[in-house]
Amino acid sequence: DWTMASFIETSSAAIREQVGQGHVISALSGGVDSSVVSVLIHKAIGDQLTCIFVDNGLLRTGERDRVATVFREYFHIPLRVIDAADLFLDRLKGVTDPEQKRKVIGRTFIEVFDQEAKDIGEVDFLAQGTLYPDVIESISFKGPSATIKSHHNVGGLPERMKLKLVEPVRELFKDEVRELGRELGMPEEMIRRQPFPGPGLAIRCLGEVTAEKLAILRQADTIVLEEIKEAGLYDRVWQSFAVLLPVQSVGVMGDERTYEQAICLRAVESVDGMTADWAHLPYEVLARISSRVINEVKGVNRMVYDISSKPPATIEWE
Ligand code: XMP
Repeated sequence: DWTMASFIETSSAAIREQVGQGHVISALSGGVDSSVVSVLIHKAIGDQLTCIFVDNGLLRTGERDRVATVFREYFHIPLRVIDAADLFLDRLKGVTDPEQKRKVIGRTFIEVFDQEAKDIGEVDFLAQGTLYPDVIESISFKGPSATIKSHHNVGGLPERMKLKLVEPVRELFKDEVRELGRELGMPEEMIRRQPFPGPGLAIRCLGEVTAEKLAILRQADTIVLEEIKEAGLYDRVWQSFAVLLPVQSVGVMGDERTYEQAICLRAVESVDGMTADWAHLPYEVLARISSRVINEVKGVNRMVYDISSKPPATIEWE
């Protein structure tokens, strides 16, 4: 009979068989899939695996440290952290089109990752957290739906670097990957993480991405997550986050008129991200988030709540 413990055994054997004496690299995103896959492969082949985390400057508050701590201190898995924030920001200068942002970020990621792999030396395999639904989707989506959004992640990397793929969870569904993560001893906080897009805060910072706008968005996002967690809603919604809108609006502070940024709160319920309903968050939670964001985040004087469902809207704004 099939259990997670037996899955770990058989897949470890399969990984050792496939990899032989070769070297594997893994691109950690901080998300569940790449984390679970990295821990699983490390369990199977130890230091024949090198994990790489690219800080693209588009991450949430504390994300990089969280990932580094879990891997280094908790799992004792060596991790290379690359600080490429300035490079990404530079490449994103003047880019406003959502798809163009994704392409620029994807390309830059490959460039940075490729360089790092060269530093490591002989690399033969790339670990990838491909799930069963991804496999099905790539087989069945022949129409324009496949290109609605170019979810880049590490696409394009294997061909260019001539790497073979190690995809140990390609027969599992998301909930099974979470189960596997638990069996591997991964912290619950990491397993329960809401999905976070590869292009990160760049696609939540509408229009051109700048360091100043990212700083505002990051602060607002931190407050949103704190309050959502505080209200016990984090696990009940699929995603909850802040979006920095490309508008300024008039406000008043004391005797002064202000003309500042607006933040949108987005919270959705979904089973698979393919369709989604806006979450009917309690008014008290909305009130707390709004009051905190407007009072604490300098440069923001207005907050709105997104009440659109998918379709026809998408979960992200870009
Ligand atoms: P949308 O906005 O299309 O998003 O309704 C559906 C799910 O996918 C995530 N998303 C992305 N994930 N790269 C990713 O890795 C991307 O470019 C990207 N765009 C959207 C989104 O957060 C949601 O969970």
